[in-house]
Amino acid sequence: MLARTTLRSARTVGAARNAASKTATRSTSSSSSGSSGTASPWRNTIAGSAVTVAAIGSLAGYYAIFGRPAHAMTPAEEGLHPTKYPWEHEKLYKTFDHQALRRGFQVYREVCSSCHSLKRIPYRTLVGNIMTVDEAKALAEENEYDTEPNDEGEIEKRPGKLSDYVPSPYKNDEAARAANNGALPPDLSLMVKARHGGCNYIFNLLTGYPEEPPAGAVVQSGLNFNPYFPGTGIAMARVLYDGLVDYEDGTPATTSQMAKDVVEFLNWSAEPEMDDRKRMGWKVMAIGSVLFGLSVWVKRYKWSTIKTRKIIYNPPVNPASRNPSTARVDTKISSGR
Ligand code: HEC
Repeated sequence: MLARTTLRSARTVGAARNAASKTATRSTSSSSSGSSGTASPWRNTIAGSAVTVAAIGSLAGYYAIFGRPAHAMTPAEEGLHPTKYPWEHEKLYKTFDHQALRRGFQVYREVCSSCHSLKRIPYRTLVGNIMTVDEAKALAEENEYDTEPNDEGEIEKRPGKLSDYVPSPYKNDEAARAANNGALPPDLSLMVKARHGGCNYIFNLLTGYPEEPPAGAVVQSGLNFNPYFPGTGIAMARVLYDGLVDYEDGTPATTSQMAKDVVEFLNWSAEPEMDDRKRMGWKVMAIGSVLFGLSVWVKRYKWSTIKTRKIIYNPPVNPASRNPSTARVDTKISSGR
């Protein structure tokens, strides 16, 4: 059965090849023999141009109807796109600059923490990343936390421990709004992930307050002009000014330096696993590429017997004739009828 199919397909290929070569010869001969059959070149040019114009026209029509983007907001409502900065810690082979994290945490504590909470960060996570155990313990003890209810059901106060979370400035959202003209200062733990533009956006926001709103800009009372904030009117006033904090490592505390440090710190608080993740990624790439190479080698080894074998088909010999060409004709006739 298999043998017959193979034979038939081989014959079909042969027939097709013959037919193709025949047509080719015929067309060459016809084009060379008579000039009347050839279209004149200017007609070709006109036809080609017409088709091109029609194609471009229909594309343009399609774009005019469906292609134009629709904007839900004006550029002012979207906010200015933040400038992109080459953040060192965002590079594939770089870690956080832990000195900068330490400075950034200082900026958070001394400036932002009066309005913004950092609810997801317990003191224990600071250990080894931003400060020593003793420093973190001392910092935790500066604040008081509720104890478990005692035998009388009373809840008392105790000094903080490493397992406690960084305290929030306000008791609840309502108190936060009441203190900020109705605007809620959002929690900063995941802020870098929560805003389009991440680090760049927050850096630009903190450093982007102009001295005065530009001419013609409408700023509601109680709001401040910031072109990077969607809507341009933000309830947070400019908070960073040169020399606001005293860095213990002697870094000059310029506005942009503090903004950069606090943004890097906020990136750490949103992605504390980043250093480990990158290190793990490189290990996976290194080990994975060795294993991949090995698997390719093993695959070639295992398949070599199959890949290098040779399949030979021996057609049954027609006892009527030993000549292969006549044998094929014979087979055809006998199988066809
Ligand atoms: C005086 C209080 C106050 C201080 C201090 C403060 N903020 Fe804010 N912040 C606010 C308020 C209020 C908002 C809400 C603004 C709004 O919704 O209009 C806000 C909003 C933000 C936002 C969110 C903007 C957005 O896109 O929604 C970020 C990010 C931010 N602050 C970062 C900081 C950082 C970093 C610091 C410290 C360097 C800081 N803030 C210090 C009051 C403050």
